[in-house]
Amino acid sequence: MIKLEHILAGCLILFSACTNNEGMKSKEDQFVDELLSKMTLEEKIGQMNQYTSHWEMTGPAPKNASSQKRLEDIKSGRVGSMLNVFGAQATYEAQKLAVENSRLGIPMIFAYDVIHGFKTMAPIPLAEACAWDPEISKLSSRLSAKEASAAGLHWTFAPMMDVGRDARWGRVMEGCGEDPYLASVLSVARVQGFQGEDLTKENTIAACAKHFAAYAFAEAGREYNTVDIGTYTLHNIVLPPFKAVANNNVCTFMNAFNIMNGKPATADPYLQRNLLKDEWNYDGYIVSDWGSIKEIELHGAAESVKHAAELAIKAGSDMDMESNAYLPYLKELVEEGKLEESLIDVRRILKVKYKLGLFEDPYKYSNTERENQTLYSKESREGARKIARHSMVLLKNNEQLLPLSKQARSIAVIGPLATDKNSPLGSWRAQAVKNSAVSLLEGIKNAVPTTTKINYAKGCDLATGDRNFLDELNFAGADKSLITAAINTATKSDVIVMALGEDCFQSGEGRSQTDIRLKGAQMELYNAIRKLNKKIIVVLMNGRPLAIPEIAESADAILEAWFAGSEAGNAIADVLFGDFNPSGKLTMSFPWNVGQCPIYYNHMNTGRPENTGNVFWSHYTDAPNTPLYPFGYGLSYTNFKYGTAKTNKETFTKNEFVKLELPLSNMGDMAGEEIVQVYIQDPAATYARPVKELKAFKKIKLAAKEEQKISFKLNSKDFGYYSPEGEFLFEPGLYHIYVGANSRDVQKIAVNFID
Ligand code: BGC
Repeated sequence: MIKLEHILAGCLILFSACTNNEGMKSKEDQFVDELLSKMTLEEKIGQMNQYTSHWEMTGPAPKNASSQKRLEDIKSGRVGSMLNVFGAQATYEAQKLAVENSRLGIPMIFAYDVIHGFKTMAPIPLAEACAWDPEISKLSSRLSAKEASAAGLHWTFAPMMDVGRDARWGRVMEGCGEDPYLASVLSVARVQGFQGEDLTKENTIAACAKHFAAYAFAEAGREYNTVDIGTYTLHNIVLPPFKAVANNNVCTFMNAFNIMNGKPATADPYLQRNLLKDEWNYDGYIVSDWGSIKEIELHGAAESVKHAAELAIKAGSDMDMESNAYLPYLKELVEEGKLEESLIDVRRILKVKYKLGLFEDPYKYSNTERENQTLYSKESREGARKIARHSMVLLKNNEQLLPLSKQARSIAVIGPLATDKNSPLGSWRAQAVKNSAVSLLEGIKNAVPTTTKINYAKGCDLATGDRNFLDELNFAGADKSLITAAINTATKSDVIVMALGEDCFQSGEGRSQTDIRLKGAQMELYNAIRKLNKKIIVVLMNGRPLAIPEIAESADAILEAWFAGSEAGNAIADVLFGDFNPSGKLTMSFPWNVGQCPIYYNHMNTGRPENTGNVFWSHYTDAPNTPLYPFGYGLSYTNFKYGTAKTNKETFTKNEFVKLELPLSNMGDMAGEEIVQVYIQDPAATYARPVKELKAFKKIKLAAKEEQKISFKLNSKDFGYYSPEGEFLFEPGLYHIYVGANSRDVQKIAVNFID
């Protein structure tokens, strides 16, 4: 076990300063003031510098010049934070370099992308969001924090709260989906899970709201591409989740790679200073995204990296991640009179370090004993399985084919993902061990008695999605012998489970795609099996909505399992055999085809929304306007009946609540959970409003045949919105309220607000 052995005397003296009561200042402020008063300009700039780890911190000192320079920088207090150093021992060694060698012994803060787990993987965030359950989101990030903190980490670059409407963009797997309200609720829960109630505890870590802002609106879904949205979309769609977490104590923010209205986000004073720090009164710090300061020059918005550093710091970007722009240039810029020295302000950074208790004990997270006990623990794996079951979405279930009986005589398990132990771990998998997930085949075998015959065939290889479209056109097709073997396997089985989808690295950062159909020979395989006229259950594993119209039409059942994490196979089997009744609902619309992207439920009406019978209305001539599966959609093994919804009255003043009530009945013989969704629409506003906007939801558990009265309370704020200038407006008048099982199947009630 690593013990606290080395705390610089200076650090101890500084810490004791915070116990002297001085006026009304908090201990934290006293401490930070005292420390700031001792810091030189260079030391302050050092705190704003973040390096990635280039060498094994526990190994011998690096030999190459650039790593040696970094080592010197750490020892001289020129590095405030590192990313990608992890492990109790490695973080201990790294921390020692800073604390024991630098003049003031200020500890570094260690960060890592712990997105959906550190060693044990929970489902990818997009999947977890489909649980529509803040407790599930909190559980996922709590488990991540426990593992990450035990591996010496203080800070995660999560949650990502970019509202994503375009399935082509690979990073939709990392967010909550297309709705700003749901993203707000779930992001707050995720932050609470990471940060817990008390940040000084050794098993809580600082969270980071990213990417500020509008990164998901990359044109045509192409990674890092230009964003050109208006301020109306910015205020109403992009910013709400960020505001919600800023109001709920998220420790840090990360800016974004993209430009918006010609301004790189990292150099944007409006977003970072005016809005976040001033208007929202946010007191955490902002880290730039990887290299995003130097990319200001590449965007064509700075003359040089030095100029980019000047723009970024003026805009409010506090910490430089791997641009190497602040360390070499900030002092020069001050000396040349281009920067006010007061802008080199590291109070925010020091405060977060204080909150984490790093000044008290810089090594408290680096505890090998705890690390050994916590990583990949039973608690983590059980949690991951629970989260996975809640994340799955039943898209189709003809004639109640599911749940399957465990006593079935024979089940064929077919498909390139059936035995895959790697893809279920998803992208952004931190320190998960490759091939460590429970595969679907293993999960099914674990669930059934030995008398049930399980027949497996791969059917085809999993294309990685890296082939470009020209290769795809020249693709010779499936390996016929694999298909023949799969047909034989299917022929001798009573029921067929097919595992289809994406390779795990088809989604994630840098993984945008122009074609979101099943890749490679998967459709050829599916069509060959379908010809047998047997019952087919398709289990999808993927990191984004897919275009699967043929499967939607012809499969008997479809379970969207996503990349479900370390316990994927077991959790899928829990659902397939009815040990868990699925309750997840989609948080991103599934298009019929990629040409519909971006497709989202909260779109505008347009001036020509109705089918006029001629060609001159807003539509495609070769596909519907509506998605294949809408936002909020998902089935259960039981069925729920929505009774007539009523409001307590029809006309309301601004200060009154609208109370909405409806009976919900479980008509089936199985207990189940239903996510009841409430949307609103302002049909005549100063600025045109979307056709629907989610404003409330509840997950209701009902026993077989049980009926419950479900109630919601909406206040006038729920009916308001932001003008393009960012002013919050509430406009009396007529509103529609919609309530139902998804964004499409709803009943409508009209209410009036009067002045
Ligand atoms: C990503 C961030 C991530 C960072 C550090 C960047 O490329 O955009 O989300 O936190 O790398 O790994």
